[in-house]
Amino acid sequence: MEKNIESYLIEKRVFKAPRSFARTARIPSRAVYERLYRESIRQPEKFWAREARELVWQAPWKRVLEWKAPFAKWFIGGRLNISENCLDRHLTTARRNKAAIIWEGEPGDRRTLTYQQLHREVCRFANVLKRNKIRKGHRVIIYMPTIPEAAIAMLACARIGAVHSVVFGGFSADSIRDRIADSGAVAVVTADGGYRRGAVVPLKKNVDDALTGETSIKRVIVFRRTASDIHMEEGRDVWWHRELEYVNADCPAAPLESEHPLYILYTSGSTGKPKGILHTTGGYLVGAYCTTKYVFDLRDEDVYWCTADVGWVTGHSYVVYGPLANGATTLMYEGAPDWPEPDRFWRIIEDYGVSVLYTAPTAIRAFIRWGDAWVRKHDLTSLRLLGTVGEPINPEAWMWYHEKIGGGRCPIVDTWWQTETGAIMISPLPGATATKPGSATLPFFGIDAAVVDEQGEEVGPNVGGKLVIRRPWPSMLRTIYGDKTRYKKQYWSEFKGSYLTGDGARRDHDGYFWIVGRIDDVLNVAGHRLGTSEIESALVSHKHVAEAAVVGRPDEMKGQGVVAFVTLKENVTASPSLKEELRKHVSTHIGAIAKPDEVRFAEALPKTRSGKIMRRLLKEIASGRTVTGDTTTLEDFNVLARLSRGEE
Ligand code: WTA
Repeated sequence: MEKNIESYLIEKRVFKAPRSFARTARIPSRAVYERLYRESIRQPEKFWAREARELVWQAPWKRVLEWKAPFAKWFIGGRLNISENCLDRHLTTARRNKAAIIWEGEPGDRRTLTYQQLHREVCRFANVLKRNKIRKGHRVIIYMPTIPEAAIAMLACARIGAVHSVVFGGFSADSIRDRIADSGAVAVVTADGGYRRGAVVPLKKNVDDALTGETSIKRVIVFRRTASDIHMEEGRDVWWHRELEYVNADCPAAPLESEHPLYILYTSGSTGKPKGILHTTGGYLVGAYCTTKYVFDLRDEDVYWCTADVGWVTGHSYVVYGPLANGATTLMYEGAPDWPEPDRFWRIIEDYGVSVLYTAPTAIRAFIRWGDAWVRKHDLTSLRLLGTVGEPINPEAWMWYHEKIGGGRCPIVDTWWQTETGAIMISPLPGATATKPGSATLPFFGIDAAVVDEQGEEVGPNVGGKLVIRRPWPSMLRTIYGDKTRYKKQYWSEFKGSYLTGDGARRDHDGYFWIVGRIDDVLNVAGHRLGTSEIESALVSHKHVAEAAVVGRPDEMKGQGVVAFVTLKENVTASPSLKEELRKHVSTHIGAIAKPDEVRFAEALPKTRSGKIMRRLLKEIASGRTVTGDTTTLEDFNVLARLSRGEE
């Protein structure tokens, strides 16, 4: 952490918001930002109520906030429906025939759905859900490629008050099984497959594997995407397109209480089991709507493209709910950025005239490596605004993005937030905030962010500490599904009344936030969160493994790489093939993203006297180049451990 703080301290470049941009922006200057921010902190309820009134409520709220720390309720007494706010409310305006979703599949197939068409498809699929006995409050797993039907399924659940839980298409059968068990879901919506780098991802097969044995799942609805040969289980599985034949497009949006659950999204924490982050209706919508409006400063003419998969929170808030609530045109792309060639993104931007691009630093680093020639082949002058999310962006990658993609004219919004926060928390506003490469800059309206020391005291400029949020905000998580105790303990127990983000940060003399990264046992691999203990649990479930410790090491492309130290059970021989087997084992248990980059065998793991694994030591070893050549060599940590124990 200290090292990062040092390196960022030398970053001196500042980029003012371009005047041409500021002229038309909703927040046109730093002064206007300051004024609204002050109001939002002094009178948060006034600020949020004004934003909420821009949306459609079927019954008005009686109170804006009820805060019984750490449990918040927003817009109490209000009734609304998110799908109505994302769809119906645009149908009485000129947006009726505007593109809501522009989609491109990896093989090159294209579809555009206007707001009217999307509304119709959502209503029909909502009726399919009802026909299949899915009711308000039921949990539904969505395991799909990034195709319009993923958004349709989410919005259809929201329309009838079913709670969706989207599982990223790269996760394995075991991960689906865990999420079904934890959420008690009654149905899965999936596809026969999805395209990734020219191959078909066997989504339905993974669902079948997840459903062996006891399960709460009664129905699997399958969308035909790849026409692959799949198994359909009689009495359980039905085809999406067949079901549509039985329904009409008349489905009024259910009037839901503001605190009605909208979705559960599983994310990694510092224990072995992913946490089901629960978001509810009114507050979440207000957060997603209002951050999209101000941070991307969307216009009706924009073609807005957030490259995230719908399986991540960014896909929820900034591919689906935020843009549609704003009546924007949101572009979805199904596949890989380097398929068939490394210029796929730039081709898409040129073909559709994309004006706002929101992507991840890990993708930017990959583009840099693939070379500028791919970028130069395309006309990117339609772009007016760029964004990043998912991990700290190193200043050099920021500069490349600014110059090579933004042509030096587009502001960059480096947005810091989390699955738990539901919406952007710290970010520049493009017409108001001068940016510094590598800094997420200033807090969004209503967000009381601070950097504190171990005692919870706010630290001075350029001192590193823990990033906390000192008051509730509308789109905050409400709990960890089924585990209030863990919710309290994980996020609210360290500093009374403050939400602990798990990130380290510092603020500079201008009050700008510089996020350093996770300070808990969570890795950030290519912008994806992975709990080290989750990977350890997977390793230990292998019959030959006695103990495992997983740490991160710096990785130029992925931000962090995964290194696993493993001790084997007695009489098991270390071999390169066993290493490969263990890497595969993690992949089948969690998903390919969690696959260790390196497995190292050890005689024993270095431990403190109280038996805690000395991760700091392992991290040093993992990042160093101490072991080369034959990587099956057993590492004997006993000596190292004895040496380091003196410092404990
Ligand atoms: C990291 C993704 C630095 C951070 C929306 C956070 C960032 C975790 C940024 C959440 C950023 C996200 N700068 N770090 N702009 N954005 N992070 O839940 O460590 O997948 O805690 O949500 O990503 O990851 P999650």
